[in-house]
Amino acid sequence: MNILVVGGGGREHAIIKKIKENKTVKQIFALPGNGGIAADAICVNIAATDIDAIVDFALKTQIDYAVVAPDDPLVLGCVDALNEKGIACFGPNKAAAIIEGSKVFSKNLMKKYGIPTAAYEVFDDAEKALKYLETAPIPTVIKADGLALGKGVIIAMTREEARDAVVSIMQDKQFGKSGDNIVIEEFLTGPEVSVLSFTDGNVVVPMVSSMDHKRAGDNDTGLNTGGMGTVAPNPYYTDEVAEECMQKIFLPTIRAMKAEGRTFKGCLYFGLMLTPNGPKVIEYNCRFGDPETQVVLPLLESDLLTVMQAVTNETLADTEVKFSDKHACCVIMASKGYPSSYEKGFEISVPEDLLDSTYVAGAVLKDGKLLTSGGRVLGVTSIADTLADAIKQSYKKVENIKFDNRYYRNDIGQKALKAGEK
Ligand code: AMP
Ligand code: GLY
Repeated sequence: MNILVVGGGGREHAIIKKIKENKTVKQIFALPGNGGIAADAICVNIAATDIDAIVDFALKTQIDYAVVAPDDPLVLGCVDALNEKGIACFGPNKAAAIIEGSKVFSKNLMKKYGIPTAAYEVFDDAEKALKYLETAPIPTVIKADGLALGKGVIIAMTREEARDAVVSIMQDKQFGKSGDNIVIEEFLTGPEVSVLSFTDGNVVVPMVSSMDHKRAGDNDTGLNTGGMGTVAPNPYYTDEVAEECMQKIFLPTIRAMKAEGRTFKGCLYFGLMLTPNGPKVIEYNCRFGDPETQVVLPLLESDLLTVMQAVTNETLADTEVKFSDKHACCVIMASKGYPSSYEKGFEISVPEDLLDSTYVAGAVLKDGKLLTSGGRVLGVTSIADTLADAIKQSYKKVENIKFDNRYYRNDIGQKALKAGEK
């Protein structure tokens, strides 16, 4: 089979490495991929959002199956466009991807179907939003409706910060049209859990749970990033919590989407907060998380391509999806300065024996050398019987992967380790 993977980050690298394990796979193409992914797939310089070019390429190359990984092409309808030409895909169509593409949609869906989430108000007018904020409980959370490169959520600790957020999103259009509407919601507290799931619209199969580390600095300080590291499983996500989430959140969500005529097929990501009043949805993503995927897929024991095809064919109920009961830890190595400005173009050296567990996010190949080209450069994952060992092994690998200007957090997994000891 010829496989196409749309996207070019660490998540896509993890998906590609896993798909490669299937013996029927002949070639994998990554659009656009990156300098590191080039070791595992044929990278073609077509942007993940250039839907017409993706469809042309898929037809020309006789692609049998496509995996659309990032949010933007999914929300733009990449799966619909490929399906129209008869190419089977993993990923939701445009109608279902709206669950991530519009926060107003997802909040209203949860309200309509009684799925637990933070209380909220929607505004399409800055003046009204500012008026509401005069008496709203503080802290509060302001969210741009549409996709905003992961930066559209502002936790306002003061009334002034909240007002500034509304002005920058709705009036200064910091995120363009994504900020035409906003959600202002209740500030929740509690441990966060990421649960990625496979769903064919009828059944939902949660993957092993994970914990992201979003802030740039140790002990959750500094700016929000795309994610500086992950561990799986997440110790806060006990069997009891999992059962509650299945009954109150996962099943109601896929049933709600179906009832709305927006059957979701693909990977549905539940961003959860375990509040004192039970688990609540912080956000839905219509795709695999990054860097959650870099710990979740290495723990998958079943064949990924087979599971993905079962999602497409709506036969997930009859397909085994098995995860190892080991622990995984992924440490992201970034460019110093990320998520603000940083220098790039530094040569990366990865020892041969670490290539298998390295997922490259931001690097280019130039004259045979791998050079840094992004904020997040790569992630390195280890699997072990205990979380403590997985962490130790990943940091040992980190020491041996070298490039100038490298930066990483020193405490990935420490919070989980402490929680697990309780
Ligand atoms: P996102 O950019 O959508 O991944 O959200 C970023 C982060 O904002 C989440 O991971 C949470 O830590 C935080 N967040 C979002 N909504 C809330 C909320 N209602 N209460 C507290 N924190 C929140
Ligand atoms: N790691 C969070 C996300 O993929 O949105």
